[in-house]
Amino acid sequence: MESQLNAWNSLYKQQEDRNKELQEEVTALHDLFQKNKVQNILDLGCGSGRYLLHFAKLGYTLSGIDISGEAIKQLTERLAAENLQADLQCADMIQLSWQDNFFDAILSIRVIEHNELSSIRMIIKDVYRVTKAGGYFFINIKKYPPWKDWKDGKFARIDDHLYAPTEGPEKGIIHYFFTKAELEELFADFSIINLAEDKKRQHYCLLLNKNNSK
Ligand SMILES: C[S@@+](CC[C@H](N)C(=O)[O-])C[C@H]1O[C@@H](n2cnc3c(N)ncnc32)[C@H](O)[C@@H]1O
Repeated sequence: MESQLNAWNSLYKQQEDRNKELQEEVTALHDLFQKNKVQNILDLGCGSGRYLLHFAKLGYTLSGIDISGEAIKQLTERLAAENLQADLQCADMIQLSWQDNFFDAILSIRVIEHNELSSIRMIIKDVYRVTKAGGYFFINIKKYPPWKDWKDGKFARIDDHLYAPTEGPEKGIIHYFFTKAELEELFADFSIINLAEDKKRQHYCLLLNKNNSK
């Protein structure tokens, strides 16, 4: 994990304003959140705050966790510049410190896939624990197999479904690619509201609900 942490920190140092564009599938959650009185949101792997800032500006109460100290530093500065507040933690999301049934909604945008499958299973278990009954979990995640021109073809296979770029700013950062069947199995404790490819057909968007009756 140390090498992954170093890779993330150096990526954020190189690209301070990375990922500004907001995905429609994520911003559209505002309607669902309003209808269902969502207030308390966790942004899992919040990075430098692309979505955390967006939802904080809309008036939600935000918490964020990210393993990269550099990302959390940049987000702290951005929050201060916007006069906004959030509960930020610089930690590995494999074990969350929040109490059971704490969040109305959890977001994970292109995050969980940067871990090995055994860790991904543990992360999902803990996300389930901290989600309120009736709460939501929205995930944007890579679709298996890697598309032909992903990283201009400059990537290596590490294990089943696990790849890492061999060049460029994300060199060495692991990416796990998921099949639909695998997602259905991994998230079986939740009810799947929607599981669909995003516009470019390279990622899945998954909207889940922690159903009371399960
Ligand atoms: C591709 S970035 C996405 C950031 C943000 N969600 C966005 O959409 O802009 C992935 C983020 O996940 C974080 N991350 C990866 N594995 C993590 C882990 N095990 N615990 C906490 N953060 C992690 C990385 O540090 C990085 O900031």
